[in-house]
Amino acid sequence: MKIIMLGAPGAGKGTQAKRIAAKYSIPHISTGDIFRANIKNNTELGQKAKTYMDKGELVPDELVVDLIMDRFKEADCANGYVLDGFPRTIPQAEALDKALTANKEAVDFAINVEVPDENIINRMSGRRACVGCGATYHIEFNPSKSEGICDVCGEKLILRDDDKPETVKNRLSVYHEQTQPLIEYYSKKNVLKEVDGTKDMEEVFSSIVDVLGK
Ligand code: AP5
Repeated sequence: MKIIMLGAPGAGKGTQAKRIAAKYSIPHISTGDIFRANIKNNTELGQKAKTYMDKGELVPDELVVDLIMDRFKEADCANGYVLDGFPRTIPQAEALDKALTANKEAVDFAINVEVPDENIINRMSGRRACVGCGATYHIEFNPSKSEGICDVCGEKLILRDDDKPETVKNRLSVYHEQTQPLIEYYSKKNVLKEVDGTKDMEEVFSSIVDVLGK
């Protein structure tokens, strides 16, 4: 099963993608997580990506497409994947289609997690991310057991640099301009499924399972 998560920054794509990956035994591939791991390890890719991410802008398509095509070659992708944060532009979606078509494959579902902009800023300012394993929490909606400490690996939780309100506003405008057109793109391919992302996390997941099947 090949699934794409669509939605604004902070809509809950990562939260739901992790659950989908666990339930359907497919890898969760987050381009944001891959870039953050590269930044942490101070790789050349990480240094390049950071200059865009810190401003809330998109990393250039060619960097992202090369990275994702390499990731698809790994053995765990044999039965599909859930993509979180890719594609994010029409050229990225076209590159994905080209690669899949070459293998006589296609995207099965593009799930749009719909959350209005008003809710997003609050979600982002309350999000905390683990510096060790990347797990995410929310101080109000999904708190860690011990404040500031990751339940999974015990490392410190931080507010992401790009979750500061000024940067979030820019990320939202970049989303509307460059990523939102993908909703129509996947609708035309008859794979778009809309879910209401304003409900609580369990309800959102249950709507997604209704779409994907048990
Ligand atoms: P990325 O990491 O992909 O960021 P994003 O798309 O902006 O998405 P987020 O991770 O911020 O949010 P999310 O939708 O996953 O929400 P989450 O589940 O965490 O990308 C970061 C940057 O990398 C980009 O800005 C860009 O520069 C670069 N990049 C990445 N991919 C790229 C690409 N393909 N091309 C170019 N550049 C790229 O939830 C948010 C918060 O809300 C959490 O605290 C969570 O606990 C809480 N929450 C979740 N669901 C609910 C709910 N139902 N109710 C209440 N709270 C909830």
